[in-house]
Amino acid sequence: MEKKLFAVIGLLFSIIVISGCSRTGEVQIGFSVGPSHERWERDIDFFTSRVTNAGAVLHVSRAENSHARQVEQVRELLKKNIDVLVIAPVDSRRAAGIVRLAHQHGVRVIAYDRIINDCDLDFYISFDNMRVGEMQAEYLTRIRPEGKYALLGGDAGDNNSILLRLGHMNVLQPFVEGRKLSIVVDEYISGWCDEEAFRLIDNYLELNPGGLDAIIASNDFIAEGAFRALEKHNLNRKVLLSGQDAEANACRRIIQGNQTMTVYKYIETLATVAASTAISMARGEPVVNTQMSINNGQVMVPSILLSSMVSVHPENLRMTVIANGYLDERLVFGMQ
Ligand code: GAL
Repeated sequence: MEKKLFAVIGLLFSIIVISGCSRTGEVQIGFSVGPSHERWERDIDFFTSRVTNAGAVLHVSRAENSHARQVEQVRELLKKNIDVLVIAPVDSRRAAGIVRLAHQHGVRVIAYDRIINDCDLDFYISFDNMRVGEMQAEYLTRIRPEGKYALLGGDAGDNNSILLRLGHMNVLQPFVEGRKLSIVVDEYISGWCDEEAFRLIDNYLELNPGGLDAIIASNDFIAEGAFRALEKHNLNRKVLLSGQDAEANACRRIIQGNQTMTVYKYIETLATVAASTAISMARGEPVVNTQMSINNGQVMVPSILLSSMVSVHPENLRMTVIANGYLDERLVFGMQ
């Protein structure tokens, strides 16, 4: 009798353990990455290690800046029976259809880095992008509070571009009203494309030789195009130039004096928080780390906005991006 009882308890115990394990093992997360600049591969690396270390299965897809491709890829992810979709949308508005599609399959959606507007989004995790814009404008106006400024924004379909521009204007407006500073170029750049940034600055300088004091480039890729135009007109090192993302080329330009600053965001933290939120959701546990609610035009979305970012310049580059292990010293300083 006693033996039988032990056998039954043993059986029950192993069922609980096995089902407990398999439940953890079976948690499936889909990660759909819309954009394709340098930083996103780092996001994928960090996110992958956090999700797989937690014992969950991860499916990653890269849409390479195509909304249509992202829709197709999410359809494929949904066929794989993912529990939660984490998505950096190509387009913050058009991705609303992707959220509806996921919900039809009973899958909840976390917007990663870029919000999705006008839909019943489940969660949003990003940095304080308006603050990033302010940091770019603050850094340049502190050096040059007067003169002619060009504003090169990101893709207008990416809500972050709009937030960055709001941040720029929070800082610039008083200077403009004081008539000390004028905005001579004010554009959003489709696909955050460096070629387009080159064309805009090159065209402007052809018509206004030497007529530029600073360029607020919304990210390092755009800064790269702007830098090539400045170089063509012999104005590199003379015109201030911002950026964002601490890309290797940008950090090299900062050391050479060809770019004034970049904003380094701790995307490891972003990926870590996103992974733990996705896993809690997938396991049906309450998401306990919500920080605020953000209106996306349809609902108040439970959100986290990280403020772990720093302005990087020649003096602190070593103690930030290098000391943190984000970029290898040899990559930036060209050492053997
Ligand atoms: C933004 C993101 C930036 C930059 C840009 C282009 O949404 O916040 O860090 O990478 O996309 O990919």
